[in-house]
Amino acid sequence: MKIYVPIDSAAKALGADEVAETIAREAKSRGIEARIIRNGTRGMIWLEPLVEIDQGQGRIGYGPVTPEDVPALLDGKLDSLGPVEEIPFFARQTRLTFARCGVIDPLDLDDYRAHGGLAGLRRAAAMSQADIIAEVTKSGLRGRGGAGFPTGIKWKTVMEAEAPQKYIVCNADEGDSGTFADRMIMEGDPFTLIEGMAIAGLGVGATRGYVYLRSEYPDAIRVMNEAVRIARRNGVLGPDVLDSGRAFDMEIRMGAGAYVCGEETSLLNSLEGKRGVVRAKPPLPALEGFLGRPTVVNNVISLATVPVIFEKGAQTYADLGIGRSRGTVTLQIAGNVRHGGLFETGFGVTLGEIVNEIGGGTASGRPVKAVQVGGPLGAYMPANKFDTPTGYEEFDRNGGLIGHAGLVVFDDSADMLKMARFAMEFCAVESCGKCTPCRIGAVRGVETIDRIAEGDMAATELLTDLCETMKDGSLCALGGFTPLPVMSALTHFPDDFACHKEAAE
Ligand code: NAI
Ligand code: SF4
Repeated sequence: MKIYVPIDSAAKALGADEVAETIAREAKSRGIEARIIRNGTRGMIWLEPLVEIDQGQGRIGYGPVTPEDVPALLDGKLDSLGPVEEIPFFARQTRLTFARCGVIDPLDLDDYRAHGGLAGLRRAAAMSQADIIAEVTKSGLRGRGGAGFPTGIKWKTVMEAEAPQKYIVCNADEGDSGTFADRMIMEGDPFTLIEGMAIAGLGVGATRGYVYLRSEYPDAIRVMNEAVRIARRNGVLGPDVLDSGRAFDMEIRMGAGAYVCGEETSLLNSLEGKRGVVRAKPPLPALEGFLGRPTVVNNVISLATVPVIFEKGAQTYADLGIGRSRGTVTLQIAGNVRHGGLFETGFGVTLGEIVNEIGGGTASGRPVKAVQVGGPLGAYMPANKFDTPTGYEEFDRNGGLIGHAGLVVFDDSADMLKMARFAMEFCAVESCGKCTPCRIGAVRGVETIDRIAEGDMAATELLTDLCETMKDGSLCALGGFTPLPVMSALTHFPDDFACHKEAAE
């Protein structure tokens, strides 16, 4: 009998380690022959710790399991959730990037291979650089960190740049509120990121890669470091990648937790050992990036999606999605929601479907008031925008931002003036200080919202003006996008701003 207990840090926070230990102890004392496998998570966080038992006829799920449930679990007396892959939240997904996450033992390279791993890299290793770039371009893959820039164009720029050394840098500084897709895949299927980076290296002619991983993710750091060692030992990384005659190797570097180090140029500064301050663009990192050399900077999910594109073919990937948003979106559903977790599906599902059907509405049972999509720089989308389909352009047209595809749900008890204040305060705290609209503007923004809270409604005009200046005059997305949550709160929830006026009177 195989028993799977997730080792993902969200599952561990909910007691998975204690459950795994209890299963090992109880199984031994009952003489049950059980192999305990610590898998990644399936992404259904409200069911964690989700234990799966395989007795040769598929994996049956139980969850959330407590240590006290273990005797009944082993006696076959605990109510099951049925076959895990038939749980509705899971069954309606299209899992490509996350196909192996929760299924395999994250650090078992044979298990990885047995589930399609390395097929993409093997195919890429037999292709020319130009053909690799053409395949990525054909897939329609766009940057999943938030900006949605076409990955094929970025790679082509780096491939065509002439330099003695080029680099692949993976942005794993996942700082957006409500996001966890990067962490989940690094903890649950680390070889897929390594494989994606190796394909990128072969494509653009880079022989070295770095994962810039935030220090707040100790489990991901441990798993990634171990996975790199295993990949190197097995010829996946090194001077002769899968006997292709081409070299690629990589290492994991730790970031210290500044939000702005998720911005690619401050990330590069930090990676070089300098202070994490934003650099002016141009030059683009694609031409002058790490140590001044041509560098691909891509988010974890962009790179982790590359292997499946090469395994299944670019067209299969491009066939999914809507408009210019091709393939799948890895939604991270969080906040006040019944069914929070990771949900991968083709672009096009509407915001309302995600919140009400997939997420099951609020955990509190109260009406949904707003959903912040795209992290702390994303707009607060009200219920009358719930027919917006997930797509970069579709969200943009509706005043929103998909960003890294994190959603935080709020019920009707949320005070949107306080949320607007929080956005400005966050910007003030995290600003790198390089440009005035952000460094000074965010502080003035907090003060102006405080004036509104005290009943000075004339200050709303000033706030609007300030937001315009920050949007147009900031050097990077932190100062440039902070007006989005602030103005969406003011525009869609004017009553929350007027309420404070009444209270002050
Ligand atoms: P950007 O639009 O300036 O650039 C996007 C990417 O395309 C960059 O890597 C840039 O170097 C590259 N690029 C642009 N033109 C190019 C060309 N001609 N050739 C090659 N490469 C080119 O956006 P930026 O400032 O990098 O990112 C902003 C986004 O980041 C926001 O939309 C926000 O959603 C997201 N974000 C994500 C966070 C996260 O935790 N994942 C945190 C904060 C923001
Ligand atoms: Fe730094 Fe803010 Fe300017 Fe970005 S917008 S460069 S974080 S001061």
